[in-house]
Amino acid sequence: MNPIKPEDAFKNIISHSKEYGFIFQSSEIYDGLSAVYDYGQLGAELKKNIRDYWWQAMVQLHHNIVGIDAAIFMHPTTWKASGHVDAFNDPLIDNKDSKKRYRADVLIEEHIGKLEDKIAKEVEKAAKRFENFDEAMFRGTNARVQEYQKKIDEIEARFKQALNDNNLEEVKQIILDLEIVCPISGSRNWTDVRQFNLMFSTSMGSVSEESSTIYLRPETAQGIFVNYLNVQKTGRMKIPFGIAQTGKAFRNEIVARQFIFRMREFEQMEMQFFVKPGTEMEWYAYWKQARLNWHLSLGLGAEKYRYHDHVKLAHYANAACDIEHRFPFGFKELEGIHSRTDFDLKQHESFSGKKLQYFDPELNQSYVPYVVETSVGLDRLFLSILSSALKEETLEGGDTRSVLCLPPALAPYKAAIFPLVKKDGLPELAESIYTTLKFDFNVAIDEKDTVGKRYRRQDAIGTPFCITVDHQSLEDKTVTVRHRDSMQQERIAISALQEFLEQRVSLKVLLKTL
Ligand code: GAP
Repeated sequence: MNPIKPEDAFKNIISHSKEYGFIFQSSEIYDGLSAVYDYGQLGAELKKNIRDYWWQAMVQLHHNIVGIDAAIFMHPTTWKASGHVDAFNDPLIDNKDSKKRYRADVLIEEHIGKLEDKIAKEVEKAAKRFENFDEAMFRGTNARVQEYQKKIDEIEARFKQALNDNNLEEVKQIILDLEIVCPISGSRNWTDVRQFNLMFSTSMGSVSEESSTIYLRPETAQGIFVNYLNVQKTGRMKIPFGIAQTGKAFRNEIVARQFIFRMREFEQMEMQFFVKPGTEMEWYAYWKQARLNWHLSLGLGAEKYRYHDHVKLAHYANAACDIEHRFPFGFKELEGIHSRTDFDLKQHESFSGKKLQYFDPELNQSYVPYVVETSVGLDRLFLSILSSALKEETLEGGDTRSVLCLPPALAPYKAAIFPLVKKDGLPELAESIYTTLKFDFNVAIDEKDTVGKRYRRQDAIGTPFCITVDHQSLEDKTVTVRHRDSMQQERIAISALQEFLEQRVSLKVLLKTL
C-alpha cells in the first residue's frame, strides 16, 4: 500500500472530504466563512462514532467517571475567574503594506520551521550518500546542521524569554532581526505587536441598557469546574473521580489556514480528574499513558504519535504535555494532558464566594482537589484519523484505488449490500438483508453501476465490508463478503451476517483493546 506523497496528501484529504460528503466549507454558496466547516452526511457519522468511542472509553469503562453536558453560555465571571478575560491572548502584528494580520509567534515559529527543513534536507542528502547512516551521529557532528541548530536554539531561547517577560517590543525586535517579511507584500514594514483576546463575545438581554457581555466558551473545561460540587454531591462521587464532557468551543483564531486543524468553532472532548493533593503526578502519568493507548488502539500506526512535554508551564500547571500526531504538515498537537493543580477550583471559590471542597472521610479533613485534565479536539482527531486512513493503492494491472482504511468500528457505513443485478428477485433479497441488519448497524444498499465501481465507491468512504447478493444466494442463502483492505472475498450464510459484523465492527472491538 503506497501512502500518498506528503506534498499532495493534504490537498487530497481536503478534496476527498468534499467529494464524498465528509466536510464542506460553511455557507459555501456565500463563498464560505473562514475557518468554519460543516460536516456532511458521512462526516457526521464518522465524527459521531469517534465521539462515541471517546465517551465509552472514558465514561462507560470507568466506574468513577461520569459525563455532563453544560451550556455554552456561562456567567461572565466564569471567564474572569479562569483567567481568560485577562490572559487568553495571541500576540498579533500587522504588515502596514499588505494590511494583513499575523500571529507574531507563528511568524517566528515558521522561521524556525524553515531552519528545521534545512536540517532535514541535509539529513536526507547524507542518508542517500552513506550506507548504515547514523542520523544521531550526523546531526551531532555535521558543521552545517550544527550551525542551523545553534540558530534555532538562540531564537527559541530569546523568544521564550520575551514571552515570559510579556515583552512585546522584544517580540517585534526578533521579527525584525530575523528579517521576516510579509508573504503577501514581501516587506518588513511591521506594526507594533499587540495582544488580542481570542474569546468571541455577544450580549444577553433584549434591552441594550440591561444587556451584559457574555462569551462563547473557549473551552468546555470551565463548565465542568463550575459543576464540580453539583456532580460530586448528587453523584456521591469519591475522590479520585472524573467528569467528562464533549461540546462546542469557540476561539477567534487569527491564523486559521489548516482546514479543520484550527477552527473558529470546534468541538472538544475533555475530562477533569479530581484527585487528592500530592497524588496528581501519579494520575498525570496514568492519564498520559491511558490517552496515548487510546490513540494507539485505533491501529493507525504507533510511529504517528509522540509526546511533547512542555518546558514552559502555564502559571497554574505543575506538569503538561501534548500527544502529537504526524499530520500531512508535520507533527502537531492533537491532545493536551495537563496537571492543573487546584488553580481553577480555588479561583472559582474566590470569585463566587462558594466553597468548592471535598470532605475526605479517610483523612477526616476537607481540601480543594487537584485536577488532571485530558483535552482533545474532536475535529483535529477527525483530521488525524482521516489523514492516516486515506491511501492511494496501485492494484495489479496498474489500476489505482483510493481506500479509506478506517478502523471498522468508526466507519460511517459498516457494510454495503449490493444486489448483483436489478432483477430476478436479487434487489428484494438485498432489501430483506438490509432490513435485518439496520437495527444494529448503519448499512447501505447500493444498486447502481457495476460491482467493481460500487467497490471503489465504498472503499473511498471506508466501508469495511461489501455484501453481494447473487443468483446463488437465492438457492443456498449465502452471500459474498468482500473485505475492504485485503479485497479478499468469502462466501458466508446470510444467517451468519449479524454475528460476522458484530465481531468486527462494533465499538466493543476497540474498547476491549484498552
Ligand atoms: N481545557 C484545556 C484546553 O482547552 P487547549 O490546548 O487550548 O487546552 C485542547 O485545547 C485541544 O483542543 C487541543 O489539543 C486541540 O486538539 C483542540 N483545539 C484547540 N484549539 C482548536 C482550534 N482552534 N481548532 C480545532 N481544535 C482546537
